[in-house]
Amino acid sequence: MKYFLVTGGTGQIGAALKRTKVPRDITLITPGRDELDLINPESIRTMMQSRIWDGVIHLAAYTAVDQAEEEVEIAWQLNAVAPAMLAKAAAALDIPILNVSTDYVFSGDLARPYRETDAIGPKGVYGASKESGEQAIRLCNPRHLIIRTSWVFSPYRQNFLKTMLRLAAERDVINVVADQVGTPTSADDVAAVILSLMLRLSSDANTPTGTFHFSNGGEASWSELAEAIFECSAALGGPTARVIPIATADYPTRAVRPQNSRLDASAIETAFGVARRPWRLAVQNVVKEILSGVGS
Ligand SMILES: NC(=O)c1ccc[n+]([C@@H]2O[C@H](COP(=O)([O-])OP(=O)(O)OC[C@H]3O[C@@H](n4cnc5c(N)ncnc54)[C@H](OP(=O)(O)O)[C@@H]3O)[C@@H](O)[C@H]2O)c1
Repeated sequence: MKYFLVTGGTGQIGAALKRTKVPRDITLITPGRDELDLINPESIRTMMQSRIWDGVIHLAAYTAVDQAEEEVEIAWQLNAVAPAMLAKAAAALDIPILNVSTDYVFSGDLARPYRETDAIGPKGVYGASKESGEQAIRLCNPRHLIIRTSWVFSPYRQNFLKTMLRLAAERDVINVVADQVGTPTSADDVAAVILSLMLRLSSDANTPTGTFHFSNGGEASWSELAEAIFECSAALGGPTARVIPIATADYPTRAVRPQNSRLDASAIETAFGVARRPWRLAVQNVVKEILSGVGS
């Protein structure tokens, strides 16, 4: 039996990972914050020494992008210091670590989808702290994979898809930003990739390491994504609303978002043979699940 420590098991991707089909000889251990508080170095040390681990899947993070501008120290502790500690501990045990990161490490100023080799340039605390976590992992443990993903949705926790369905139940018209584009990603799809890559990394010394992008196929603006959500919802008898496309300037937020969040995921396709389904198909599945009560 192989044991993998999963942080952030209660988050969107963590919940998706927990419902992913796992081979019989694999156990995912997903301690809650009461058993593993990543703010507390002693808690990390104790967890890493609590059994023989075969790998670490690090999903937990400080993900409140706007709040991070206020709670800078906590965001930094969780997104930069904790991954460094986990990566160091994993390296000392000679086991691999897989870390999930974000499109927010980029400025969003490029006019094409971002490649792994593009210069980073975070515009806020969340992106900067996540980028620092990436660097620490690269430095501390050569047996690592960093999977950058973007615009994650699922039936769990807070996300754009759930927000849109909630708002549509309350009003007829919703203003949605139209001048930010990205690559929407199903938590189920990224969770399946994470599991499969970690299994390879932990069992085959020839597995590629380093940083890779993963998202669903295609791209959209937030307003196009909202339209697609309501199309699916309407077809299933769920709530729907008219979308009014607006500019970012008309929807001020504390943290600046990248205008272009599109990730080029061709490297992970080539290196691992990962297939990416179109985001519209994934949205259909998740809208259906939410309307049938999953996640509530
Ligand atoms: N959501 C996106 O659109 C998106 C996009 C790109 C990358 N990512 C990255 O993907 C990863 C997973 O994101 P997600 O959306 O699944 O996250 P999420 O739903 O916001 O959940 C965050 C997770 O982190 C845990 N956590 C927070 N503070 C903790 C602490 N002090 N100790 C232990 N655990 C703590 C939370 O536990 P509690 O339940 O106790 O709060 C929760 O399990 C993160 O690294 C994130 O940066 C997300």
